[in-house]
Amino acid sequence: MLELSNIYKTFNKGTIDEKVLFSDFSLTIENGEFVGVIGSNGSGKTTMLNIISGDMPIDGGNVTLDGTPLNGMKNFKRARKIGRVFQNPSMGTCPSMTIWENMSIADNKGKIYGLSFGLNKRRRDFYCSQLELLGMGLENRLSTQAGSLSGGQRQALALIMATMIRPDLLLLDEHTAALDPKSSDTVMTLTEKIVREKKITTLMVTHNLRYAVEYGSRAIMMHDGNVIMDVKGEEKKNKSINDYLKVFNEISIECGN
Ligand SMILES: Nc1ncnc2c1ncn2[C@@H]1O[C@H](COP(=O)(O)OP(=O)(O)O)[C@@H](O)[C@H]1O
Ligand SMILES: [Mg+2]
Repeated sequence: MLELSNIYKTFNKGTIDEKVLFSDFSLTIENGEFVGVIGSNGSGKTTMLNIISGDMPIDGGNVTLDGTPLNGMKNFKRARKIGRVFQNPSMGTCPSMTIWENMSIADNKGKIYGLSFGLNKRRRDFYCSQLELLGMGLENRLSTQAGSLSGGQRQALALIMATMIRPDLLLLDEHTAALDPKSSDTVMTLTEKIVREKKITTLMVTHNLRYAVEYGSRAIMMHDGNVIMDVKGEEKKNKSINDYLKVFNEISIECGN
């Protein structure tokens, strides 16, 4: 279980740019949940993921994963517990390295003494089995530079790299937003498959309402550092895009837009 309890986060404290984002923010995610996170720009989605991953210090509160505090945990330890895919494919894969080298780095993520590439040759079968999950033929292109792959292929590779050591938690931050609609759908289908087959608790921030409606076991909507909608199970199944849009519109009117 992932637990964010009583989180406080203020940016630029004490300056005219001071921005209180989270004030007593709490959220609990059960193991095995696949949560779609939607919300307006600046509502705190990315900051929430940064807080969970330990990339953003907090002013107060606690983040625990299965009871173990994540804030304060050594980076290398956290790195093996949390997989992450960003919007930009170059954040998740190194373009000048081959698929093989990229996977080798992901495989050794968070290990204090990384194995040499030579030793990693033994991992070839494992890497191929992982790439086969994508159905893109990348398992036959281990020596291809990641930079020469299409955006969709690179995000698919980034997904495999983020999940190959089966983290306890997968954080996706608009990981399809930079792709054309067709590649975006392909990566979304793969995401669902990987999350389901590997049974990884997942938080997926998405700009695409349709993805939040069609995928995942739970959907939350954020606004101004708060969760303003939280649905799962039957309630989620019964929600349409229009239901989410209605809440968006209500917020816009409230904000005077
Ligand atoms: N590094 C930062 N420095 C200052 N303010 C920030 C920073 N990161 C985020 N913020 C503030 O927090 C708000 C929420 O940002 P973010 O979490 O990126 O929103 P979202 O991902 O939902 O679009 C922003 O509107 C901004 O005011
Ligand atoms: Mg964001």
